Amino acid sequence: MNLTHAPLINWGLKLVDVQNGWTILDIGCGGGFTIRQMLKRSKDTTAYGIDISAESVAKAQKVNTDVLNKRAFIIQGSAEKLPYEDEKFDLVTAVETVYFWPNLPGCLREVIRVLKPGGRFAIMVEVVDSDSKWTSVVDGMTAYTPEQLKQMLDTAGFTHTEIYRKKPTYATIIGEK
Ligand SMILES: C[S@@+](CC[C@H](N)C(=O)[O-])C[C@H]1O[C@@H](n2cnc3c(N)ncnc32)[C@H](O)[C@@H]1O
Repeated sequence: MNLTHAPLINWGLKLVDVQNGWTILDIGCGGGFTIRQMLKRSKDTTAYGIDISAESVAKAQKVNTDVLNKRAFIIQGSAEKLPYEDEKFDLVTAVETVYFWPNLPGCLREVIRVLKPGGRFAIMVEVVDSDSKWTSVVDGMTAYTPEQLKQMLDTAGFTHTEIYRKKPTYATIIGEK
């Protein structure tokens, strides 16, 4: 999982341009590659990770073991109810995961709650077609077009939402609180 998503993650993180000193949350952190990359890109950054799967949390903790509970704080939980205080994060990322979030509009309200004013939310997806073949073979998956995701971000209250695309099917959607 980590390595197959690397090209999407590396491209998306260039767009986000992680800054020193940021406090970041990666939702659906999977095996922890995005957290690792974000910490590598900046010196004083602190990264939090959350994933609904205990197995993913264990992998992400292992991948970030040298910085665990120092610069990386990784726990089990759901995007539906984020266990963080209001206005904690400069950046929230969600890579290849929004397809699985139940009640996506409610989850987006949670994201906006935990972002600082001016903070940004970056959704990175590789499946950008709502009729994608993937949704018929992967349980519980809903594919959204980038335009649908932008619309949902706007409805949740994000501003300056932009869609970025890269071949073959990568999209990053970034909104600001
Ligand atoms: C396809 S994997 C992507 C993992 C990682 N972001 C990456 O790019 O390698 C999707 C991840 O989303 C997590 N996930 C699914 N539903 C979730 C939810 N409601 N809240 C948090 N994580 C969730 C899954 O457990 C899984 O680790």
